[in-house]
Amino acid sequence: MNPVKVGICGLGTVGKGTFDVLTRNCAEIAARAGCSIEVSHIGARRGSDIEGITISTDIFAVAEDPAVDIVVELIGGTTVAKDLVLKAVANGKHVVTANKALIAEHGNELFAAAAKQGVSIAFEAAVAGGIPIIKAIREGLAGNRIEWLAGIINGTGNFILTEMRDKGRDFHDVLQEAQELGYAEADPTFDVEGIDAAHKLVILASLAFGIPLQFDKAYTEGITKISRDDVEYAEQLGYRIKHLGVARQTDSGVELRVHPTMIPEKRLIANVDGVMNAVLVQGDAVGPTLYYGAGAGAEPTASAVVADIVDVARTLSAEPGHRVPYLAFQPDALSNTPIVDI
Ligand code: HSE
Repeated sequence: MNPVKVGICGLGTVGKGTFDVLTRNCAEIAARAGCSIEVSHIGARRGSDIEGITISTDIFAVAEDPAVDIVVELIGGTTVAKDLVLKAVANGKHVVTANKALIAEHGNELFAAAAKQGVSIAFEAAVAGGIPIIKAIREGLAGNRIEWLAGIINGTGNFILTEMRDKGRDFHDVLQEAQELGYAEADPTFDVEGIDAAHKLVILASLAFGIPLQFDKAYTEGITKISRDDVEYAEQLGYRIKHLGVARQTDSGVELRVHPTMIPEKRLIANVDGVMNAVLVQGDAVGPTLYYGAGAGAEPTASAVVADIVDVARTLSAEPGHRVPYLAFQPDALSNTPIVDI
């Protein structure tokens, strides 16, 4: 089997992390994929010289490169990134992306385009950083009717709330540190106003309940109004303030909401601190399940990006007839369940 060739678009925090993980763990990755995986092309604003790899400052060159099998979109945003993914798909490339805004806001269109071309768009890294929550819901819990899910799905916000509680630090100081550590979005308003968490929540809800992606229907409230006093008083009453995303089946439809929540301090999720994320998923057969791990940062997010690359490569490397189909995203497969107004 020839190596599977990967083109990485974007060499920021996650792009560099992805390149490093693919390079460092190449033996394990090849064994799991059934073939070696090579980064053959990088599209990045600033050129760099990595031996044996084509570097283009025009990222669209990656999507047009006949040698590339998988385009990894790590540029972020929803404009150029959308054009890039559509171009890659039109050229018959599989796509791996960490871009939750792109999936939440344009996923319905992108998946339809990918389905027409018979290629996949994989997005494990779009939700909860390194936690394999997409695969858990789509594969591990495939036999369940999901009743609800709730989670801390923004690392920056959780880092801020934790530092305010543990060290009495100022909101803006901690946010600045989160930016320096590469946790925050390019526009950190997305983190602190709950937009990033809402992007992730609608993706999880779409998978869990088989509903189309409906970002505009999620109730979204951030953490900017939480003061150190709020955090302290909650503590005195035996609670922790956590910024949660909640999706729940109700008799009148699916509830989608992101907001700060007081959680009794003995609950596991109340003790998820710093940049860590945790997602609780309640299935009718399995009962409650809990997934925990780093929700942001270069290598935790790269871990999820690389998992998707391995998934696609595994399918590409299998003998015809033995191919494991990459599970297609079917946003409206199950129902037209309405979203509840909150
Ligand atoms: N800004 C995001 C967060 C990055 O803090 O969770 C990971 O999606």
